[in-house]
Amino acid sequence: MRLLVCGAAGFIGSTFVELRVREHGDQVTVLDALTYAGRRENLRAVEAGIRFVHGAIEDPAAVAEAAEGAEAIVNFAAETHVDRSIADPFAFSVTNGQGTHVLLEAARERGLRYVQVSTDEVYGSIESGSFTEESPLRPSSPYSATKTGADLLVLSYFHTYGLPTLVCRGSNNYGPRQYPEKLIPLMILNALAGDPLPVYGDGRNVRNWLYVEDFGRGIGHVLEHGAPGEVYNCGGPDECENLEVVGRILKLTGADESLIEYVTDRPGHDRRYSLSSAKLEGLGWRARTRFEEGLSRTVDWYRENAWWWEPIRSGSYREYYERHYGRSLKR
Ligand code: NAD
Ligand code: TYD
Repeated sequence: MRLLVCGAAGFIGSTFVELRVREHGDQVTVLDALTYAGRRENLRAVEAGIRFVHGAIEDPAAVAEAAEGAEAIVNFAAETHVDRSIADPFAFSVTNGQGTHVLLEAARERGLRYVQVSTDEVYGSIESGSFTEESPLRPSSPYSATKTGADLLVLSYFHTYGLPTLVCRGSNNYGPRQYPEKLIPLMILNALAGDPLPVYGDGRNVRNWLYVEDFGRGIGHVLEHGAPGEVYNCGGPDECENLEVVGRILKLTGADESLIEYVTDRPGHDRRYSLSSAKLEGLGWRARTRFEEGLSRTVDWYRENAWWWEPIRSGSYREYYERHYGRSLKR
């Protein structure tokens, strides 16, 4: 296929592009604003085979340039970190809301298939059981609220204009190239450096962990086999309390338990996420990677790829870390 993939210089989008080029021979144009979370190095493995347009999804001229020749748009571009959305929410409305709208208009003008990459956080928190695609939308954070608004806009373009739009909602991803503001890479890099591991609240919040390649393949499945106007959940095979995640990382890195430090809880912190993926499994998708195996692979990757994370930990991430955690990183 000829794809426009937005936000593919980030964590999940770059994995998706690698999979599509390697396993499907797709022709890909990437549109990315290269924010703090986006890096050209993330596309190194496929650099020679793709077209890269540097620009923002909320800029119609950049979108028009990037959409030339595309058959479908897959949108990963977003502001993605809940804590940043609490501290500085406005950028989230612009990228996640307005940016999605500009992409939808471009898809409508050209009659393109459109896949929106979304999140389980649109459903809010669930004490027991799992969310289905029919569950009510109850986002808690500015991040998840702007993602919810975007999902609704995407579906409105199907109902109003008959545009073939689809939504794929993933659970918490982990794997190589994830920016270290998120739980798993943050804890891995702090453990390797001997920095404290900041656990929010009581550490008993539960997340449904999905290996990034499994999500990439799930989105590919929705792109190829999904029915227009439909939503598909894509959840990981294992749930885990944060403290258990941190305990496993301590074991895998050989770091000491005394590094764990309980810190002030995140405001509005969702207790548990859990997704039922039965609908997507009905299209033939399955999560292949269990948490134990994926986490061990991820720790190995960070251990072996200091060239990737050293510039991040010595750059603007340091300032973010100091602002957010009120202490500096050792190195
Ligand atoms: P990321 O933060 O690693 O990457 C985001 C990318 O979007 C970066 O390359 C950034 O430069 C780009 N970007 C940001 N603003 C932009 C703009 N205005 N115009 C163009 N590009 C812009 O994010 P990620 O973790 O790879 O997440 C990708 C998508 O998947 C997001 O839509 C997110 O909501 C969704 N999602 C993430 C997770 C997760 O666990 N990380 C889970 C489910 C869904
Ligand atoms: P995160 O990776 O930010 O993903 P999300 O909030 O979108 O699910 O956080 C995952 C879990 O880890 C969440 O319960 C918050 C918790 N957490 C910490 O305990 N300490 C931290 O420093 C971070 C970043 C997250």
